[in-house]
Amino acid sequence: MRAYTEPWWVQLPEGFSTPEFDTEIWTPRKPLVIVPSRLIDSSAPVYGYGTPGPTDNDLLSQHDGVPMGEHITVHGRVTDSWGRPVRDMLVEIWQANAAGKYVHDHDPTPKPHDPHFTGAGRTLTNAHGEYTFKTIKPGAYPWWRDPEAWRAQHIHFGLTGRGLTERYVTQMQFPGDPLLSRDPVVSTIPDAKARERLVAELDWEAAIPGITVGYRFDIVLGGVHATPAEH
Ligand SMILES: [Fe+2]
Repeated sequence: MRAYTEPWWVQLPEGFSTPEFDTEIWTPRKPLVIVPSRLIDSSAPVYGYGTPGPTDNDLLSQHDGVPMGEHITVHGRVTDSWGRPVRDMLVEIWQANAAGKYVHDHDPTPKPHDPHFTGAGRTLTNAHGEYTFKTIKPGAYPWWRDPEAWRAQHIHFGLTGRGLTERYVTQMQFPGDPLLSRDPVVSTIPDAKARERLVAELDWEAAIPGITVGYRFDIVLGGVHATPAEH
């Protein structure tokens, strides 16, 4: 057995003195490269600090024209790990347009922008922890890291409580989407039941007859039934 007096991680390779090891090998010899931040590096759009307006949760009416695509109503209830509704929670969503294109310039997919759709909205939960959005069903898009993989249709959710440390980020998927099995993000969740908790349910009670299809997406912020979150 090898005998030594110091843990292995403080033993230096032969020929290295401590000053050389610390200063010449581990210290950067060139100036640090500052990587410019881009919108795509952010985990969410920047909405500002103002109180959500009355139409901020209606992504169908943010421009002069009507967005392309299937118009939908998305609603749900936000609860904590004890099943209690979470009121006054800021719920932000962001998503691709009906063609599967995000509004920012760093989206590399060769698809068209929709001049009548930005893809960002926000609202506050009411006293029962409920939220509602009107928007369009987003298109799927190819995953830039792997041409064989596709992101299934999804809406990003960011939920913020009274402090930024309480932020909860997740994604809503659509029921029956055949691309769910090829989605590289959803596939990272090993528990099949947890993956199912990301899938909204069709909800005709929430539909606006002749205008929108309704979906319900409840969000649980912790506990054994928690909605899977991004970290
Ligand atoms: Fe996305």
